[in-house]
Amino acid sequence: MLAIAILAAGKGTRMKSPLPKVLQNLAGTSLIEHVLNNCRTLQAKRRFLIVGHQSELVKNKLTKLNELEYVLQEPQKGTGHAIQQLLSTMETYDGELLVLNGDVPLLKPQTIERLINTQRESGADATILTARLKNPTGYGRVFTSSKNCVKAIIEHRDCSKEQLSNTLTNAGVYCFSWKKLKSVLPKLTSNNDQEEIYLTDAISLLSLVMHLEVTNTEEVKGINNQIQLAECEAIIQQQLSNYWMQEGVKFIDPSSCTLSQECKFGENVTIEPQTHFRGSCFIGNGCNIGPGCLIKDSILGENVCSIYSVLDNAQVGNGVTIGPFANIRPGSEIENKCRIGNFVEIKNSHINTGSKINHLSYIGDAELGQKVNIGAGTITANYDGINKHKTIIGDNTKTGANSVLVAPISIGSNVTIGAGSTLTKNVPNNALSLERNKQLIREDWTKGLNK
Ligand code: UD1
Ligand code: CA
Repeated sequence: MLAIAILAAGKGTRMKSPLPKVLQNLAGTSLIEHVLNNCRTLQAKRRFLIVGHQSELVKNKLTKLNELEYVLQEPQKGTGHAIQQLLSTMETYDGELLVLNGDVPLLKPQTIERLINTQRESGADATILTARLKNPTGYGRVFTSSKNCVKAIIEHRDCSKEQLSNTLTNAGVYCFSWKKLKSVLPKLTSNNDQEEIYLTDAISLLSLVMHLEVTNTEEVKGINNQIQLAECEAIIQQQLSNYWMQEGVKFIDPSSCTLSQECKFGENVTIEPQTHFRGSCFIGNGCNIGPGCLIKDSILGENVCSIYSVLDNAQVGNGVTIGPFANIRPGSEIENKCRIGNFVEIKNSHINTGSKINHLSYIGDAELGQKVNIGAGTITANYDGINKHKTIIGDNTKTGANSVLVAPISIGSNVTIGAGSTLTKNVPNNALSLERNKQLIREDWTKGLNK
């Protein structure tokens, strides 16, 4: 029988961030969600999350996970104190307790499984995960007996100079026999440099503790500061781009791109340099994205080509070309074969099949029919200072350069709008509409000036 406890109550003082540490983002996903994902497939009777610092914020992030039991640790007096909070709810439990630090996000599920199996096979009081780190600064050091049993863990700041030369470190991942741990938890003291109650002190109070050493040290990286967060980001970015390259995505320069875990690609996709994906995205077959794009929470159909552009919460059909320098804002739906050109901003608008908005336009809160041609510099004036209003443009309509369409306004289909018009009234189908002063010509004007 297995129960899981994840430690997520700490403030993360060393991050120097207003956000609780376990909510810091790694490849677009919070640290705590990474840790929860890593143990998702394990069969567990109970799953506890120990929360404390800004607990409501942490809980709000995880509302979808209803199998989690939250345990409040208030105040936060250390990792041992955090686990002591389970004593009352787990009084009659008899099985293993897997403890994971909420700031160790790169662990592989298989490694956690190996740890549990090692514990079950050995029948020890506990098995802990260890690694030999080239730079073990900040980590607890693991001291073993001749038989390779763990005798004690001593925190970096409590180590003597000699003890610091030991590079075998504690990964912050433990599988305990709960019965055995339960009996020593009340004996933990705060007799250390930080005056906290350390879970690691339980080790020397138990009779038999084994360790499982991982060889891939990247997996056990803990995050205490912004440097370690950036190091983990680099590792996870490389893992993501390697995964997608194995799936056939062509990255011209993967190290200059960033991906999110929720980003998926179809076949025969090319990603040009300096292109970034955030949130949940799907990029369809044959797309060519970049250089220089930011794509967030968007769905792209097949053969979309986008250069130096930003897409946020957009839905884009097949064969659409975007940019350079387009800004596609939330709520935009662009159907097949449209063309969105340079310096075009689109917000909360539906652009139907085959329409073109090629140059220097703002299209906001609009509904465009099929094969509409928006002339350079056309603006939908959607805001009257208080409310936003809608612009409707029918199929095959052409707006002249520098048209201003003052919403709410409805322009029919097959309409031609003269260049430079500011329209405030609806236009029926098949009409020409223009609003413009008569052009003035004074012949021989300069002659008069010279007198
Ligand atoms: C801890 C280990 C250290 C190990 C390292 C691995 C202890 C005493 N030390 O050190 O041996 O090498 O992890 O990354 O455990 N937390 C609580 N309540 C608290 C304090 C912390 O829930 O009162 C949570 C934190 O939110 C964090 C985790 O416990 O997710 C670890 O705490 P942290 O302070 O980062 O411990 P380290 O100093 O990294
Ligand atoms: Ca830590």
